[in-house]
Amino acid sequence: MPDTPKPKHDHASLNFPEGFLWGAATSAFQVEGNNTNADWWEWEQKNQPAEKRSGLSANQYELYEKDFDLAKELGHNSHRLSIEWSRIEPEEGQFNQEAIDHYIKVLKVLKSLNFTVMLTLWHFTNPQWFAEKGGWTNFKSAFYFERFVKKIAPELLDYVDFWITINEPGVYTFMSYLGGDSAGAFPPAKKNTTQALLVTWNLARAHKKAYKVLRSLHPQKPIGIAQNVQSFEPFHKHSLIEQFAVGISDMVTNHSFYFLTKGYHDFLGLNYYFNYRLNRQKGLLPEVANPEVQERDVSDLGWEIYPEGIFSVLTDLADGLPIYITECGIASTNDDRRTRFLINYLQEVYRAIESGVKVKGFFYWSLIDNFEWHRGFDPRFGLVEVNYETQKRTIRPSALVYREIIKRNAIPHDLLKLLGHGIRVEDVLKEGIHHD
Ligand code: BGC
Repeated sequence: MPDTPKPKHDHASLNFPEGFLWGAATSAFQVEGNNTNADWWEWEQKNQPAEKRSGLSANQYELYEKDFDLAKELGHNSHRLSIEWSRIEPEEGQFNQEAIDHYIKVLKVLKSLNFTVMLTLWHFTNPQWFAEKGGWTNFKSAFYFERFVKKIAPELLDYVDFWITINEPGVYTFMSYLGGDSAGAFPPAKKNTTQALLVTWNLARAHKKAYKVLRSLHPQKPIGIAQNVQSFEPFHKHSLIEQFAVGISDMVTNHSFYFLTKGYHDFLGLNYYFNYRLNRQKGLLPEVANPEVQERDVSDLGWEIYPEGIFSVLTDLADGLPIYITECGIASTNDDRRTRFLINYLQEVYRAIESGVKVKGFFYWSLIDNFEWHRGFDPRFGLVEVNYETQKRTIRPSALVYREIIKRNAIPHDLLKLLGHGIRVEDVLKEGIHHD
């Protein structure tokens, strides 16, 4: 009789490629505070209850040095942030030098701390004057955006390593022109398919125009978008109609914008948050997870926690271009869950790299707690907690676990232990994490 094989127990670290970018992401409107010239600001005064208005938010407009020092302390080697168009061009064609100088200062601080900088030029909010002209439904919208990019990009060029022109065109169109989600909508809160198509078209044109401007300024600096990509599965594994719906949803959500802008991407920036199981008994439409039906864990926002999903979007979208995870994170007031989330999702990113996908970086969403759009301040995505009364920042333990991963450029085996429930993050940190 042959010996029964010994159970295989692999103690190796999961090593990431050399030069991997590790960081976190934010967006200007969500952290800066007092963006009084933005369309969102105008809209929220009329349509949102006081506690759901952005107000001072995390006051990063003033506290940016403190936040970047924290990111440095947490071991990050790169940072993704955005600039606020409505500060830079508060009136049509009038550029505010003070705001431009401010962003130069901000980026200089990042560079002095040796961060690789990924800068987003548009992250959901518009100047009010632009919104009054019909926003992204206006035929000239791409031209207005191009004019802004022509003005601001040369000023910031020296301090930027990666450009993101547009953040999540699909989410913006859905939230602003197709009625939004269960928690509400984004301004201008329309529900009009024709306008939604027009907005998509104009955002694609805007990206292409911006790409050309940015490319003409520098022959190499990579340019892309951040695209919200979603994983879909059939609820009933063998249902053909559900599999067909998965294919269509994947095409519309993940591939169509890339198709419209083909040839204008040096990398793929992927924001991953959502997995959906499409059910023929429920109209085959993606819906936010119902934990009872899904029998899967969800975040504080009801979004399904499904690490395998990031593997499937990575392998689905891989087409030879380098990929950066430009956002991935969890809203949770239970920080142990954030730690497990990070380790689990990064393990899947590792798996994708092992299977040949060129993933080059990961930006956790978000560095600090911030204004979660129409949902206000309750969702807590930060590696760093913000007390909005005092603006005090407190590092969460998950940020220290992330720091260990970054330091080793690997998920050490000791951290994989945390995936077993009942083990406390604080205890593992106290004991110290060992080399293999
Ligand atoms: C957006 C962020 C947002 C995050 C969490 C992404 O869709 O780019 O602005 O805060 O998801 O909802």
